[in-house]
Amino acid sequence: MPTTSDQTELIDAYQRHINYLRISITDRCNLRCLYCAPGRPIKKMPHESILRYEEILRLVKIGVRLGITKVRVTGGEPFVRKGCCDFLEKLTAIRGLSDISLTTNGVLLKRHLNRLHEIGIRRLNISLDTLKPDKYREITSVSAFDRVWESIHAAVEMGFSPVKINVVAMRGINDDELKELARLTFSYPFHVRFIEQMPFGEVCRENSNPLLAPDIKERIETIAPLSAVSRENNDGPARRYRFEGAPGEIGFITAVSQHFCSECNRLRLTADGRIRTCLLSDHTTDIKTALRSGASDEMLAGIFLAAVADKPRRHNLQNHSSSCLNKMISIGG
Ligand code: GTP
Ligand code: 5AD
Ligand code: SF4
Repeated sequence: MPTTSDQTELIDAYQRHINYLRISITDRCNLRCLYCAPGRPIKKMPHESILRYEEILRLVKIGVRLGITKVRVTGGEPFVRKGCCDFLEKLTAIRGLSDISLTTNGVLLKRHLNRLHEIGIRRLNISLDTLKPDKYREITSVSAFDRVWESIHAAVEMGFSPVKINVVAMRGINDDELKELARLTFSYPFHVRFIEQMPFGEVCRENSNPLLAPDIKERIETIAPLSAVSRENNDGPARRYRFEGAPGEIGFITAVSQHFCSECNRLRLTADGRIRTCLLSDHTTDIKTALRSGASDEMLAGIFLAAVADKPRRHNLQNHSSSCLNKMISIGG
């Protein structure tokens, strides 16, 4: 059985080698970010349709046998699901996984940092779109800026690295703060990543003129020149830069202006047990029904392989022809 990324059996029709699984463990979230879960109440997945942790672990083990080496746990917000840290500990015990990381909004993070550290998780991506507490509330509907800010600092002090800060750039909302956010990298070892807002669900129609990375980069370069940081093997979609002498990094995630689909090495497992091969396509493959009706590991591996074979070549956001009706909250980014 393969154990390294270049030996994966998960190869799609465009010869992309899939070795990275993003697992959404819940569609619930304690925030309501404008770009992710805006407006009306969200229809939640019924409890019985959410995969149990044991079910997820079984699927991950099968994925690892096929060549998955890297897992990122997402939500909704992963820490709103009970037992998240116990689940993470079991994940870290799976042989063949070389990288386990977490994307969180940081609101509940601080109380879990010790445990995360104990079980060996080091890489954290935390959402923070503003440095102003009032603005934070406007964006997320919750007054939790201080808690997130404290979590971020506590994580750095405890040796988590890299701590990546995800900033979704929004015209008229936080674009007056992009430089301030970038300046954080002079003082702290954060990786501050500016993300182009992707259109999802209703946000699709409201966001016809997104703030794009070239524009953001130009604004940030008025602070000081940025030099490119060379890419490493396990790098995700961010293009990496640094101000000279700064301990932190700046990243740009250009999902809209310059897609990175040709390098995509990802699969997603949704909280309700579907394999999603592209963030920006609503086409998914049900694996839960087979899992719950006694399918063997081989049969489940077959479902993974068939889903990968069908992975779309690229998204079509630029032509406004991607069909993405689901809200981001139920996909986990
Ligand atoms: P690492 O590279 O492992 O640190 O993770 P990441 O940066 O991919 O993960 P994170 O969960 O922090 O996501 C950051 C942003 O990238 C979010 O806006 C995600 O929606 C976006 N993103 C992650 N994966 C993909 C992808 O496959 N396609 C697109 N278009 N966007 C993605
Ligand atoms: N466009 C871009 N990024 C988004 N995220 C959530 N919704 C969107 C969107 N519409 C980001 C959040 C979170 C990550 C998982 O996805 O910033 O950090
Ligand atoms: Fe915001 Fe993340 Fe919750 Fe979506 S899942 S509403 S991005 S905190």
